[in-house]
Amino acid sequence: MANLFSIPQYIFSGENALQMSGQHIKSYGKKALIVTDDMMVKLGNVQKLTDTLDEIGVSYVIYSGINSEPTHSMIDEGVDIYKKEKCEFLIGIGGGSPMDSMKAIGAVVTNGGSITEYMGKVIEHSLPPTIAIPTTAGTGSEATKVSIITNTNTNVKMLLNDPKLMANIAIVDPVFTVTAPPAVTAATGVDALTHAIEAYTSLKAFSMSDIYAVSAIKRIFDNIYEVYSNGSNLQARREMAIASLEAGIAFSNASVTIVHGMSRPIGAMFHVPHGLSNAMLLKVCLPYIKPGATARLNHLAKEIGVYRQGMTADEGADAFVVATIALLRTLNIQTPAEFGISRDEFFQAIPKMSSDALASGSPGNTRRVPNQEEIEELYRKLWY
Ligand SMILES: NC(=O)c1ccc[n+]([C@@H]2O[C@H](COP(=O)([O-])OP(=O)(O)OC[C@H]3O[C@@H](n4cnc5c(N)ncnc54)[C@H](O)[C@@H]3O)[C@@H](O)[C@H]2O)c1
Ligand SMILES: [Fe+2]
Repeated sequence: MANLFSIPQYIFSGENALQMSGQHIKSYGKKALIVTDDMMVKLGNVQKLTDTLDEIGVSYVIYSGINSEPTHSMIDEGVDIYKKEKCEFLIGIGGGSPMDSMKAIGAVVTNGGSITEYMGKVIEHSLPPTIAIPTTAGTGSEATKVSIITNTNTNVKMLLNDPKLMANIAIVDPVFTVTAPPAVTAATGVDALTHAIEAYTSLKAFSMSDIYAVSAIKRIFDNIYEVYSNGSNLQARREMAIASLEAGIAFSNASVTIVHGMSRPIGAMFHVPHGLSNAMLLKVCLPYIKPGATARLNHLAKEIGVYRQGMTADEGADAFVVATIALLRTLNIQTPAEFGISRDEFFQAIPKMSSDALASGSPGNTRRVPNQEEIEELYRKLWY
């Protein structure tokens, strides 16, 4: 069977990656729309970007309205600004929210209509040039053909998945991630870990995606606790920034599975940040997928060094699951109750969340394909 493997056209990584990319940015046009959030402006990250743009003689407009995970109206606003200001290309700087918004704005600019019509749609026309600069590690959105936008009319987190959503340039400078507070660092790091585990255990995994998934998992096991507990450790931040990029590449090519399928509805209904809802779910979903993914989880146990000589494949897979759950425990991931979700409201939402999860298609990529009842039971398990 043949597989298509896609990554951004250019990836600049390491300290000063932004400055190094100047000449490439300049080739995309004279005026950029910068898509970001107020925190990036406050931290001075936008200033670093505009300093570079000033140096290379590119003008810009800043749209800093992505102050939560993106909704369809934020995209509408961005499209209006892009057109009114006659911009020629897009730069997203921030976590996954600004980067995803940047891609969605680009898609609507060249393809028209409303972003609410884009779920599952093939994007016909190429986007204007897109540049993605992550400040979390992370979603990997800088290297994925994915954008996730909430339609607040239907309370559905729409999954847009099309090769045209891949950024032309990814700029991965770990320095941008140093200011991320511990809770954001932990949740976004577990998002990356989930991408890599899901890509590796996806039915669509193949040799190229496996390379990136395994490398990401090893780096994350080695560094996530350090960045969570000592955020100023630049070497660990560097490793996590690369791991996030690798995990994004892995899942963009091999797809995510049950955790992401179930995570999006929790985000849409209860406004739980994406990384946090993944972290909550990973611990109940990993034991569920184990019977279908034993050999692969056993291999991961060997890669992270928890397999012991003489273990059966089943015991090796268990060792990986246990190690992952133990790692999650060190990161103090909130439970749904600690996040402030009402148990009754959550249980009432379970049938809708389960159908939305299945409708997204992601659970169908799991090596143990769940049905509606099993998904409902896994949601309930979050409260045991
Ligand atoms: N496109 C993809 O491939 C993909 C993959 C996974 C998730 N996502 C989507 O990405 C979104 C989540 O992105 P995210 O988890 O990166 O969070 P985010 O972009 O929503 O940011 C979370 C918070 O952290 C702050 N923040 C970000 N970087 C910071 C820094 N360096 N210092 C201090 N604060 C910082 C932000 O201002 C915000 O308040 C969700 O909508 C999710 O569905 C997309
Ligand atoms: Fe994710």
